[in-house]
Amino acid sequence: MSGDGASGIRVLVVEDDPRMLDVLASHIERMGHAVRKARGAVEALQLLEEGPADLVLSDVRMPGMDGRTFLQVAGQRFPELRVVLMTAFGSIDDAVEAMQAGAYSYVLKPFKVELIAAVLRNAAREVALGRERAGLRRAIGGKWSADRIIGTSPQIQAVRRVIREAAALSATVLVTGPSGSGKEMVARAIHYEGPRAARPFVPVNCAAIPEPLFESAMFGHRRGAFTDAHESQAGFAEQSSGGTLFLDEVGDIPLSQQVKLLRMLQESEVTPVGASRPVPVDLRVVAATHEDLEAMVHSGRFREDLYYRVNVLRIHLPGLRERPGDLGALAEHLLLEIAHEHGTPALGFTEGALSALSGHPWPGNVRELRNVVERAALAARGRRIDSTDLPFAAPAPAPACATAPAAIATLSEVEREQIEKVLRLCSWNRSAAARILGIDRRTLFTKIQRHRLAVPGGRDPDGDAEG
Ligand SMILES: Nc1ncnc2c1ncn2[C@@H]1O[C@H](COP(=O)(O)OP(=O)(O)OP(=O)(O)O)[C@@H](O)[C@H]1O
Ligand SMILES: [Mg+2]
Repeated sequence: MSGDGASGIRVLVVEDDPRMLDVLASHIERMGHAVRKARGAVEALQLLEEGPADLVLSDVRMPGMDGRTFLQVAGQRFPELRVVLMTAFGSIDDAVEAMQAGAYSYVLKPFKVELIAAVLRNAAREVALGRERAGLRRAIGGKWSADRIIGTSPQIQAVRRVIREAAALSATVLVTGPSGSGKEMVARAIHYEGPRAARPFVPVNCAAIPEPLFESAMFGHRRGAFTDAHESQAGFAEQSSGGTLFLDEVGDIPLSQQVKLLRMLQESEVTPVGASRPVPVDLRVVAATHEDLEAMVHSGRFREDLYYRVNVLRIHLPGLRERPGDLGALAEHLLLEIAHEHGTPALGFTEGALSALSGHPWPGNVRELRNVVERAALAARGRRIDSTDLPFAAPAPAPACATAPAAIATLSEVEREQIEKVLRLCSWNRSAAARILGIDRRTLFTKIQRHRLAVPGGRDPDGDAEG
């Protein structure tokens, strides 16, 4: 119909004049939309309870409940509903008021059919976009379902079961386990297996946010709240509203900020920096840590009250060494995944390779296994992976730290990464970044040049020449 990919939507027409109601309905049907008719606001509410509509076209002056009251009631009961009010010519105040009261649009009576067609086309485009987004999220969600967490060990089977149970609830989940054991995978599965799957999953690495920026990053800020706050910005908490906020490395939240986080979890609201009033947030929090939070509570590095608020449901991922039965299946699965990514064949492992894999201690757990398999697949160049292709089975006796040399960065790489991270957090404002990094601006500038760090878009957020 409309030629832009949008298809018909579900429209409900509310009009007390029966002749007008029929005329309107048949026009809208001809435009390619599905129409239901109501003689008044009360009947309209009943029809909406029976089945959803994408848009309601309602008269304002009707006996009984008028259009404005209907708008109010329907808006509360069906927050996603678009209501278009038809107001009589000359009552422009009605129109202004309608928009203020949350109407999607209004049309003046007597109206032109083309005008209604345009409003409906617009709504149809929005509906189609929304469906497309939800579909995309579902497709991404499939990639992150609990089934993708590989392992037949009783521990991993239990993890998959608890994920499915936890997904249906909105209680906070604490995921624990050593580095590289799959904590983020679990967090994503909880989100995508649950009713919030079509809303955002917002991962936040709490260890990566410098303390001075934590509050504004997490809770947002208002324009002018501090020197560099040129625009108001929603924090991670608000961005995840309706979806899931993933607090990774929750043990690294600065003590000074923990009480604010506690308040957010208790009150379901956040106060952006510089705001006078709190903003409500619809939160589902999944937190993860490789640290021993109980020990941190005992030593006073983590608030006890926050610990209890975070540790409502608990999922523990054992290290790879504690579930040796999973190793073979995981290695095969990761090889297939990697082969798919690189477009190379995956012929599996020789007996020798498998026994070398089982003999390894896996301090870096599944992430380390993935790195090892990736390098072995490259070394094997299309053959089956043999023990000699494994990086730790090199001829020279391996020293303790030689298990994953590729994973260890040089000092310069660490410096570059840290500088880039802080610059990004400060929107590339070098003065602010230098303060956080504890160096002067000139030193920072030299380092930016040495590491060839480029400002995205080439603009200079400091607005002054560096000299
Ligand atoms: N059971 C599993 N099945 C398949 N892939 C897995 C599994 N566990 C982990 N992985 C893979 O291992 C890698 C590390 O997983 P993840 O990032 O979830 O670990 P983590 O516990 O969050 O690590 P860290 O503590 O370092 O942040 C990812 O590539 C993930 O896809
Ligand atoms: Mg992680």
